[in-house]
Amino acid sequence: MREHSTIQSGAAGLSKGGKKVLVTGGAGFIGSNYAYYHVEKYPQDRVFVLDKLTYAGNKNNLKSLLEKDAITFLQGDISDVDYINSLFETEKFDTVINFAAETHVDRSIKDPNPFLYTNVNGTYNLLEASRHNNVKRYHQISTDEVYGDLGTGSKDYFTELTPIKPNCPYAATKAAADILCLSYEETYGMPITISRCSNNYGPYQFPEKLIPFFFNLASQDKEVPVYGDGQNVRDWLYVVDHCRAIDLIVQSDKYGEVYNIGGHNEYNNLEITKFILDFLGKDESLITYVNDRKAHDRRYAMDPTKIGRELGWKPSVTFQEGIAKTFDWYTENDEWVKDIVGRLEMPAFEIRSKTPLETTR
Ligand SMILES: NC(=O)c1ccc[n+]([C@@H]2O[C@H](COP(=O)([O-])OP(=O)(O)OC[C@H]3O[C@@H](n4cnc5c(N)ncnc54)[C@H](O)[C@@H]3O)[C@@H](O)[C@H]2O)c1
Repeated sequence: MREHSTIQSGAAGLSKGGKKVLVTGGAGFIGSNYAYYHVEKYPQDRVFVLDKLTYAGNKNNLKSLLEKDAITFLQGDISDVDYINSLFETEKFDTVINFAAETHVDRSIKDPNPFLYTNVNGTYNLLEASRHNNVKRYHQISTDEVYGDLGTGSKDYFTELTPIKPNCPYAATKAAADILCLSYEETYGMPITISRCSNNYGPYQFPEKLIPFFFNLASQDKEVPVYGDGQNVRDWLYVVDHCRAIDLIVQSDKYGEVYNIGGHNEYNNLEITKFILDFLGKDESLITYVNDRKAHDRRYAMDPTKIGRELGWKPSVTFQEGIAKTFDWYTENDEWVKDIVGRLEMPAFEIRSKTPLETTR
């Protein structure tokens, strides 16, 4: 059965010099932040947000844009080839930015199928529709996870030349999509770019991901389940800085390029957990170590030199500022979190321990 297709909100018309921009996955965390960013910066454009509204998609994330009629919202599936083809033929988009994806690593380990369906087939459909309808710019949102694991104790960084070596089904499907995009640029001369960003944090992140998940549990004095020994390091970036980077890439005349995005904010999961507990004034006794995720990569760290050198990007928000804004947002938007968490199935863990556990790597 089709799960889409009606236009659910109108939008202000296209102004002179404006573009028709399609933001897929725009009811999710980063896509919704990008929709706000784009509408504010380019009021002359007409922004279409297309989202399947999976468990992770939330129209409420776009509430004020919908109320102002500032976007056109479409409920639709990027994997539905007929729907995508007819939409592209009708709308003749200038720009496509593909955020739509299945994104939770744990879910990809349980069942990779939806990840192949959306992340690979969906990207293929968007590329084909873009090719046949002369889209002027296609940008693919990718991730640092495609590079694999830097390992504990390593001082290295992922550059755009680091070989792709994904370790979980989520990362493998994102890597497959990236390679497909690059092949379309090379084969058909299409105007395609890719950005690979480190872990994002900020408003509207779905509360199964580390920061909002632990924030919500700890605020109710519930135990927070830290994987393994809690030493897995990620490079954390405030979501608006990611949006700024995407915008710079899409506005540039660079085609066929990959850009790494990251802010050199490396923290391990235990450190992030302690920041949350500290902000909420909770005791560290809430920390519980649980059996580690399968193939849990130890460290990701991005080298963003290329995007800095070529496009002048650098983060505008420090980790301390960004995390404070994020914690404030989750405190002020308690109802938003509760609404989602009420529908969320909590993960089950075989082992629970008050001391660090063995890692899977
Ligand atoms: N969150 C991060 O830290 C991070 C870091 C780097 C890259 N990324 C990438 O950024 C993008 C967005 O991630 P996010 O964290 O906002 O994810 P998210 O899970 O919050 O949002 C994904 C959105 O895509 C929609 N979607 C899923 N399948 C779809 C389909 N078949 N058709 C249309 N819409 C569909 C969902 O409904 C949801 O709204 C993803 O491509 C992800 O790989 C995320």
